[in-house]
Amino acid sequence: MQFEFSEQQRMIRDMARDFAAREVAPIAAAIDHEERFPADVVKKMGELGFMGINVPEQYGGAGLDMVCYVLAMEEISKACASTGVIMSVNNSLVCWPLETYGSEDQKRDFLTPLARGEKLGAYCLSEPGAGTDAANQQTMARPDGDGWIINGMKNFITNGANADTLIVFAQTNPELRHKGIRAFIVERTDPGFSVIRKEEKMGIRASDTAQLAFDNVTVGPERALGGEGAGFKIAMSTLDGGRIGIAAQALGICAAAYEAALEYSKQREQFGRPICQFQAIQWKIADMATRLDASRLLTYRAAWTKDQGRRFSEEAAMAKLFASEASHFITNEAVQIFGGNGYSKEYPVERHFRDAKITEIYEGTSEAQRMVISGSQLKK
Ligand code: CAA
Repeated sequence: MQFEFSEQQRMIRDMARDFAAREVAPIAAAIDHEERFPADVVKKMGELGFMGINVPEQYGGAGLDMVCYVLAMEEISKACASTGVIMSVNNSLVCWPLETYGSEDQKRDFLTPLARGEKLGAYCLSEPGAGTDAANQQTMARPDGDGWIINGMKNFITNGANADTLIVFAQTNPELRHKGIRAFIVERTDPGFSVIRKEEKMGIRASDTAQLAFDNVTVGPERALGGEGAGFKIAMSTLDGGRIGIAAQALGICAAAYEAALEYSKQREQFGRPICQFQAIQWKIADMATRLDASRLLTYRAAWTKDQGRRFSEEAAMAKLFASEASHFITNEAVQIFGGNGYSKEYPVERHFRDAKITEIYEGTSEAQRMVISGSQLKK
């Protein structure tokens, strides 16, 4: 066992840290307040290779491993969790299934511009009646000649209002339930596609979360991703990797809130001494630091397991479950250490506290992660 990063992994982490400090952190509070999508930052991340980190260079990506991806995600999310999720969805939920299940033509036409950051992707699985019960897809894809006509609605879609290319899951045979689901590639320019509305959210306010409508969207055979009935497995295997990305996002939020609270506890004086000299604060610091470290270890292990080419569903679920719940705990304690200042928008911990909550919900709630983990444990 060894706990050292490779030179390349350290280089990517430092590059992401430097970029985040220069380009992301300075605007994080403003774009949160204004609910403004950081288009310029996303473009620059594309130029640096951050929008297709794991995609092979021949398809426009950086060709790096999952550990590099997690390190970059952590640094970007530490500065701004909204920017982190925009990056995570494009990498894990859109580039990965295109690379893994796409034909050569699909990789050339759709994956390459996404991996280069010239286009942005979204992953459309959730529906009003298909949240944790993802197999309950009501969006229909009716065969039409050698293609399909798609009708339905998707909600809570990250990047939905800004995406050029969407992976859309739809039912082709409702009697077969999850075995009737198929995956399709839809372009925002396809007639019949529209953005119904954007959610007004508690956190990650600079990333758009949209409700989308598909009204007789016609796609040809070149837009089917994977085979007939393969959609649910594509959706689930894609989410396995996505959950590592969200674990890394939560980790970034944990680190930002912890470091801010630690520093504040050394500066803030009450009763004639810095508050870090009180045991009440020292115990908080110990609990926060331990959960931060445990989140790191679980997240890096999940990324490493994926890099070994092994099954990693359980490791990903554990990392996401623990890191997201740690981000809830750590940001709450950080606000407590900051006291009244923590509740004010003058200080960043208020934003970290709001951003943390979604990591326990999207890409599978904590309850869904527990289903995956217990299912895997009971099979052993
Ligand atoms: N990889 C490949 N196949 C998988 C799999 C995986 N990780 N997990 C399950 N499958 C397969 C199973 O092997 C099974 O196949 P067979 O029928 O051939 O045996 C099939 O899928 C059905 O499996 P289950 O019976 O376990 O499925 P289920 O309907 O009981 O669901 C669940 C289990 C864990 C609850 C799952 O539905 C789930 O993860 N739900 C949460 C969905 C989710 O994460 N949604 C988030 C959407 S994305 C988002 O948040 C928006 C965004 O933009 C960020």
